[in-house]
Amino acid sequence: MKNLLQLQTSLFSNEGQSSRLAGDFVAAWRSLNPAGRVTVRDLASDPVPHLTAERFGAFLAKPDARTVAQQRVVSESDALIDELRQADTIVIGLPMYNFGVPSTLKAYFDHIARAGVTFRYTGKGAEGLLKGKKAYVFATRGGLHAGTPLDTQTAYVRDFLRFVGIDDVQFIYAEGLAMGEKQRDSALARAGTEIRAIAHGIAEPAPMAA
Ligand SMILES: Cc1cc2nc3c(=O)[nH]c(=O)nc-3n(C[C@H](O)[C@H](O)[C@H](O)COP(=O)(O)O)c2cc1C
Repeated sequence: MKNLLQLQTSLFSNEGQSSRLAGDFVAAWRSLNPAGRVTVRDLASDPVPHLTAERFGAFLAKPDARTVAQQRVVSESDALIDELRQADTIVIGLPMYNFGVPSTLKAYFDHIARAGVTFRYTGKGAEGLLKGKKAYVFATRGGLHAGTPLDTQTAYVRDFLRFVGIDDVQFIYAEGLAMGEKQRDSALARAGTEIRAIAHGIAEPAPMAA
């Protein structure tokens, strides 16, 4: 069964512009995969705590030496990782807040980066352990940043996902959403066209080159 995990990070939950674009994609995916499962994790209404020394210490403690409190922290992290591991498609709504990613997404990433669980170091460097997944990232911004040094989000999210093994990542941007109605409408319309094109590509994959 196909399995999609949608990570919502907008402060405004379902009402966010990033959530709406992601939701449009998920609706198209559902119609292509009627038997598929969709899980929505809303990091605004159900935030993951900040990583602290105590919480990180729990990750490092040997399983048979964990305190009850440490085991609780590890179990929370394990549940997030299991949810992600089960998904073959990951959809992330990614608003830009104060030149970065929402802090809720950072906290989530801090809880799924686990040595020996989602990545490991080998003689050749880091190896991500969550393989065979495709991620779609719906990035919405008030200004225009894609392709400029101010877009720190794209490299960060791409690098992090690659670190845990998710290296097939597609970004869909809607930018300039605070720059007047005309710019906003055309950015959202462009993103909508892109979503339909992606859905079309999923429905009819391009033939393999000979
Ligand atoms: C607290 C806050 C901070 C923001 N900071 C930025 C920013 O640094 N750069 C930018 O281009 N837009 C910024 N914006 C605009 C948002 O990126 C834009 O409205 C985006 O569509 C929000 O997505 P959402 O509706 O899914 O939350 C900010 C908006 C908020 C609410």
